[in-house]
Amino acid sequence: MILRFITSNEHKYEEIRQYLKERGIECQWVRMKYEEIQDDTTEAISLASAQYLRGKVEEPFFLEDTGLYVKELRGFPGPYSSYVLRTIGNEGILSLLKGRERDAIFKTVISYCENGNISQFTGILKGRIGEYERGSSGFGFDPIFIPEGSEKSLAEMSIREKNEHSHRINALRQFMEFLENKGSA
Ligand code: IMP
Repeated sequence: MILRFITSNEHKYEEIRQYLKERGIECQWVRMKYEEIQDDTTEAISLASAQYLRGKVEEPFFLEDTGLYVKELRGFPGPYSSYVLRTIGNEGILSLLKGRERDAIFKTVISYCENGNISQFTGILKGRIGEYERGSSGFGFDPIFIPEGSEKSLAEMSIREKNEHSHRINALRQFMEFLENKGSA
C-alpha cells in the first residue's frame, strides 16, 4: 500500500520514508505547509491539523505533530516547541537549564484520516537535555537531546540509529499495527 504523509519538513519525511521502505511500504510525500492551531497539547494540535486538512487532501492521509517536554520546566516548551525553537532556540533552552535537572521527553502524535475518521497514535522517547549542542545530523532539538541509555545526541546519529528508538517511529509502529490489524498493510 501507499501511505500519504503531509508535512513540509523534509527530515520528518526522510525518517518515515526510510523506516517504511525497509518494510516494503511506499510513502508518498504531500509537501505542504498548513496553519497549525495553538493548543495546550500535542494531541489537540495534531487532531486540529487533520480536521483542517480533511476534505482538502486526498484520503487516506496522515500527519504528525511533535513536542519536546522538559520535566524541570513543567513540560515547557511542549506544544510551543516550534515557537521556542524559532525564538530562543537550543541555546535558550540550555541557558534555562543551567544547574537544573535535565530529564525530558519527545512526544509525537500521528493523526491518520481515512473515510473522514481520524485515529491517533502517540510515541515517546525518554532522555535528557545535554550540556551543550552536539552533532550536525537531524534537525530541531536533535543536537541537545540525548536518548536514555545513549551517550550520543540525536544529531550524532544516522537516521537509522535515530529511528531505532525515536518518538516518531514509536508512534509509526503503533500506526502500522493498527493498519495490519484492520488488514490494510
Ligand atoms: P512540529 O510542530 O511537529 O513540526 O515540531 C515542533 C518543533 O519541534 C519544531 O521546531 C521541530 O523542529 C522540532 N522537532 C520536531 N520533531 C523533532 C525531532 O525529531 N527532533 C528534534 N526536533 C524536532
